[in-house]
Amino acid sequence: MKLARRYAILGALATVGSSFVSADNINPSKAFSIRCSNLPKSFQPDQKTTVLLAEFLPKGSTIINPSSLPECAITNTTILADICRLRLNVTTSSTSSTVMEAWMPADWSVKGRRFLMTGNGGLAGCIGFDDLNYYTSLGFATAGHNNGHEGNTGLPFYNRPEVLKDYVFRALLTATHVGKKAATHLYQQVVKNSYYIGCSTGGRQGLKAAQDFPEEFDGIIAGAPAHNWNNLMSAFAYYWKYVANQQNPLVMTADQWVAWRDEVIHQCDTIDGVADLVIEDPRKCRPRPEARLCAPGQTWNSNKCFTSYQVTFLRKLYEPFYGNNGTWLYPGFAPGDETITSFWIQAAPPQLPIDWYRYAVLSDPNWTIEKDFDLDTADYNNAVDAFNISTYKDLSKLKASGHKLIQYHGLADGSLTYEGSDLYYESNVRRLGLPSAQMDKFYRYFPISGLSHCATGKGAWFIGAANQFFNSPASPAGITGFDPAGGVVMSMVKWVEEGIAPETILGRGVGADGKATSTKDHCKYPKKSTYVGGDASKRTSWRCL
Ligand SMILES: *[C@@H]1O[C@H](CO)[C@@H](O)[C@H](O)[C@H]1NC(C)=O
Ligand SMILES: *[C@@H]1O[C@H](CO)[C@@H](O)[C@H](O)[C@H]1NC(C)=O
Ligand SMILES: *[C@@H]1O[C@H](CO)[C@@H](O)[C@H](O)[C@H]1NC(C)=O
Ligand SMILES: *[C@@H]1O[C@H](CO)[C@@H](O)[C@H](O)[C@H]1NC(C)=O
Ligand SMILES: *[C@@H]1O[C@H](CO)[C@@H](O)[C@H](O)[C@H]1NC(C)=O
Repeated sequence: MKLARRYAILGALATVGSSFVSADNINPSKAFSIRCSNLPKSFQPDQKTTVLLAEFLPKGSTIINPSSLPECAITNTTILADICRLRLNVTTSSTSSTVMEAWMPADWSVKGRRFLMTGNGGLAGCIGFDDLNYYTSLGFATAGHNNGHEGNTGLPFYNRPEVLKDYVFRALLTATHVGKKAATHLYQQVVKNSYYIGCSTGGRQGLKAAQDFPEEFDGIIAGAPAHNWNNLMSAFAYYWKYVANQQNPLVMTADQWVAWRDEVIHQCDTIDGVADLVIEDPRKCRPRPEARLCAPGQTWNSNKCFTSYQVTFLRKLYEPFYGNNGTWLYPGFAPGDETITSFWIQAAPPQLPIDWYRYAVLSDPNWTIEKDFDLDTADYNNAVDAFNISTYKDLSKLKASGHKLIQYHGLADGSLTYEGSDLYYESNVRRLGLPSAQMDKFYRYFPISGLSHCATGKGAWFIGAANQFFNSPASPAGITGFDPAGGVVMSMVKWVEEGIAPETILGRGVGADGKATSTKDHCKYPKKSTYVGGDASKRTSWRCL
């Protein structure tokens, strides 16, 4: 019945475009595959778009690594649905272009005719293939782009403002237009609803869309957004240079970071009434490093204690970063995932802000944090504000558009502090003059306990979100088999298409075998997940209060 219907649609469509082969005498899968491989000839939407590749990939096949750069690679990925894979080069200016892919599943027409654009991470530069693969299995025509340059460094921005402009917003906007056209062309049906999902830089891209071009997406999902981008870059430089005062020897060894992370969890885990290694509300957690100060005569080797210098450092880790004249620029790091935090301040200076300052802000490849970073540099970065990368406008355009935004952020994010998301939400309450009950009509924010930066964590971190699908012990292939209902994407679909707005987002802890180890209904801000008794790994043992 289902197959017959799909056959009928494809058969009817085959007569629409002259370049399509008649599907009268072939099976639907074959017809779809032929339509797909005809795309280089049939899909020429404009002068700026070139088809690089079009191929039908059946479910279960594997994809040849499409990027020459290891940081953009996907390894040994098994395709989860019958798809048409379309790779395009889209010119964005006389000196810039973006490479994008649209993965279009064969069962699109019967699965809601939805389009989904995905985001990027860090300074990338990489198509999110794992996200494309997973969301096509849910029936979305899913697109991704390389944000105007291939790879995860800032070098492509050097004296190339158009490439930087792509990175800030234009590649996303352009790829969205072309992606929708590709879906409409392949299926010969208009897209019914259009969505966006991204985390980290992808979260910033989502908020950029919500602030500046909300008309493109019926539903936008922005995870762990790097929206306070300029000050985030300065913060990484600041904590490395001034707080860690990263000289020789290292302020903390790797062992000491682990011990400190465990100490923080020890101090804060049971504030929520449950010893489960998850700090349910880190806003209530004020770590006290003094608890581990060495007494006279004690050392790390003898007593696993910290020096006075280290204790002072650890205390400052959680304090905000203030610029010139005491201007608040960035919240401190969040407690609970300090081994991740250490990545930014341990050993070599962090490459992300170095690349940003060298190639995007100052055009000086010799710039270093050690020699050149200070609070005036941070001011300068804000004054330049490359192509308005500070993504801090209010959501009045989104509100006027009638479209929806879901923001989420891991409360155990040791890289990009959840507090930035709290503050963005509250700033909208004030600037739009709307209490939460009214904000709820178009903007909902879900803090996710036990979620690190975008993926993994000790809590019910898996919510079916961007960047959560990759093969590793923390994210085994089995997670693609979880029922997507209640996760962040299908909750957004329900909100947009049925008008049923999510009060909670379902999360799962994930075991090494890919099975769920816990479930939790993560609460809509400002409600808090509160333990009410019973097995703490079950969603029924918690309430949103
Ligand atoms: C991918 O497959 C190759 C060859 O089968 C294997 O050597 C490699 O370890 C695999 N990589 C990952 C990340 O699984
Ligand atoms: C994309 O097109 C531009 C011209 O607009 C060209 O410079 C670039 O090399 C092309 N990229 C690829 C991957 O084909
Ligand atoms: C800080 O204050 C001084 C003195 O009032 C002023 O000249 C300067 O512009 C201020 N700097 C910033 C970044 O606001
Ligand atoms: C960087 O430093 C090198 C060596 O000191 C110098 O030759 C070069 O001109 C510098 N480059 C820039 C862009 O300042
Ligand atoms: C940045 O935003 C301001 C205010 O909305 C606008 O006037 C300006 O044109 C924007 N600049 C860029 C480069 O987009």
